[in-house]
Amino acid sequence: MKVLMLNGSPRANGNTALALKEMETVFAENGVETEIVPVGNRPIRGCVACGGCAKTGKCVFDDLVNETAPKFEACEGLVVASPVYYASANATLVAFLDRLFYSTRFDKRMKVGASVVVARRAGTTATFDELNKFFTISGMPVASSHYWNEVHGRERGEAAQDEEGLQSLRALARNMSFLMKSIALGKEAYGLPEVEPRVFTHFVR
Ligand SMILES: Cc1cc2nc3c(=O)[nH]c(=O)nc-3n(C[C@H](O)[C@H](O)[C@H](O)COP(=O)(O)O)c2cc1C
Repeated sequence: MKVLMLNGSPRANGNTALALKEMETVFAENGVETEIVPVGNRPIRGCVACGGCAKTGKCVFDDLVNETAPKFEACEGLVVASPVYYASANATLVAFLDRLFYSTRFDKRMKVGASVVVARRAGTTATFDELNKFFTISGMPVASSHYWNEVHGRERGEAAQDEEGLQSLRALARNMSFLMKSIALGKEAYGLPEVEPRVFTHFVR
């Protein structure tokens, strides 16, 4: 059982990295493997709406997006972590997620998603909502904690002082492990839910 963890910060060893490490320890205690992929420090361009992926199932820009796609397909859970920039997610991470989710055709249903946001002070819940929308359009159940998944800090390492924030991330990793294991059992017992032929309209017609 594996969780892929995307770090949307350009800062190596920043607060987002610290938040992910806190979760990694708990995943390990629960027998869940992890891999952290640094995204925010890479030159990732945005989607150009060329439609190439509809034919190939891959993005025409052959970079970290296509490299990460098979890892996403193979994992049972995805954690997306971002520093808050102007009350929003890091732009490089958003470009990456747009292309990753849009270009890949594999079934994402019942992979568990969780987003984690890191900020000095404000914009956390807007960013949390923004990131969760990638999961909730993809049939991915969202794991949650006893608080919204946020930790606070400005300079590198400051988030280590946010005891409440880190505790909520540990609870999140425990809940997410439980959910992934429960879904694995459910899949064995019942299989994945039936899928209707897709109705696709531009608003109403
Ligand atoms: C361009 C930029 C915009 C930022 N905007 C916000 C913001 O809107 N709200 C906030 O609380 N912190 C903001 N911050 C602070 C970061 O979210 C904070 O320093 C965070 O700990 C960075 O995480 P990292 O160490 O993983 O990079 C901003 C930082 C930068 C560089």
